[in-house]
Amino acid sequence: MKTMQIGKSGVIASEISIGTFAMSGGTAWSDTKNDLDASVRLLHEAFDLGVTFFDTAPVYGTGRGEEILGRAIADRRDKVVIGTKCSLNWRTDAGRLEYTRDGKSVYRCFSPESIRADLEDSLRRLGTDYIDVYITHRQPEVEDVPQVMDTLLSLKKEGKIRAIGISNATVAHLEAYLSCGQVDLAQEQLSLLGRSRLDEFVPLCEKNDITFQTYRALEEGALTGKIPADFVPPKGDVRANLRWFQPDMLPRIAAMLDRFQPLREKYGCSQAVLACAWVRAQSPCINLLVGARRLETLRDTLTVSQIHLLPDELAFLTNCARELDD
Ligand SMILES: NC(=O)c1ccc[n+]([C@@H]2O[C@H](COP(=O)([O-])OP(=O)(O)OC[C@H]3O[C@@H](n4cnc5c(N)ncnc54)[C@H](OP(=O)(O)O)[C@@H]3O)[C@@H](O)[C@H]2O)c1
Repeated sequence: MKTMQIGKSGVIASEISIGTFAMSGGTAWSDTKNDLDASVRLLHEAFDLGVTFFDTAPVYGTGRGEEILGRAIADRRDKVVIGTKCSLNWRTDAGRLEYTRDGKSVYRCFSPESIRADLEDSLRRLGTDYIDVYITHRQPEVEDVPQVMDTLLSLKKEGKIRAIGISNATVAHLEAYLSCGQVDLAQEQLSLLGRSRLDEFVPLCEKNDITFQTYRALEEGALTGKIPADFVPPKGDVRANLRWFQPDMLPRIAAMLDRFQPLREKYGCSQAVLACAWVRAQSPCINLLVGARRLETLRDTLTVSQIHLLPDELAFLTNCARELDD
């Protein structure tokens, strides 16, 4: 597995990273069994296959995701890169109510005290005294970015975090952060079906040496080819709100994936890997963040590092996906 520098931070990480959202339990991902030992085994397998970059967040399983990762990295802390996040918490009711799930109300708060408390909670759950990449999970008003950045820069100076990242941000947010200091990573959605970040956001990252860490490359499974065309997400499942999981879209996606069969045969890869290979090829600044709970899917996904699609193949995949834009 190749490695890359995260932004200009000096942090070196595998160019494919693994996230802990789906394995963290809770009703957000409805069929998760939340088996700690199995999750730790999966993260260790990823490490054995060359993955050194692991992404989590306080809200994944409301603390559970960080605890799982903390357990998995306890005997190898200095060999892994941890990305975790701040700004969403269920500690107090300060800030804006974001959502209530599994009996917990989650608030979005950016005060210096709240970000520092987020960090201390994460350090405790992860069993470490520093975070490699500290990411604002959601964003404040653009005019409040300087105050947030001030806190993050202080934490960096204190040695508690090594690099600053942002997530779910607009171009205006990114520009506001950059006017205050170095941002090393932006974690945003990118997939064959969700390409809007390629217009302005990715070029801005390239220009400023920012690692663009992509999530939802598989659109919560819709691009794996394994979701039946008549699948209906259970109530409360995050997939219920995604356009691709609406009853009219799944059959159209299935028809599109059928057209990819010759490429899957050429590369001897699964549909999921083909979709991930398209994402990775979009820019050299991309770090591909994927999720898995089962060892077979993990092993399969990681074979993407060996697949390099040709320009005309990338164009073909993009053009097929464009037909679903309307
Ligand atoms: N910043 C944010 O707001 C944000 C939002 C979403 C996600 N994230 C991060 O990104 C990480 C990845 O999330 P994601 O949404 O991008 O998940 P994902 O990689 O799209 O995976 C989601 C689903 O695809 C399945 N899958 C993965 N590889 C597969 C393969 N090779 N073949 C068949 N199925 C496969 C998984 O199966 P199994 O689980 O059954 O193995 C899982 O059900 C999360 O864990 C989280 O760390 C961040």
